[in-house]
Amino acid sequence: MSSTEPSRRDFLFIATGVAAAVGTEQWQVLIAICTHLGCIPLADQGPYDGYFCPCHGSVYDTSGRIRQGPAPLNLALPTYEFLSDTKIRIG
Ligand code: FES
Repeated sequence: MSSTEPSRRDFLFIATGVAAAVGTEQWQVLIAICTHLGCIPLADQGPYDGYFCPCHGSVYDTSGRIRQGPAPLNLALPTYEFLSDTKIRIG
């Protein structure tokens, strides 16, 4: 990843709670709202280097799949489409 590319953390804190993460070759778009009680998980944290919710300890992997903790579901994956190289429509 070059220094001009956004990191997962850059997108995690968009006010809408939608996160778009940079993978090795592709984009990942997920809704960064914990499926337990709605806290905002921290990116690049936890044993799977994915998302960690500090509220009650849920751990998600880099794909947003729940791995540990009380959260009952994976992070939500919204529909999206790229409108151009720099624009994405989510939802
Ligand atoms: S709100 Fe995330 S673990 Fe409870």
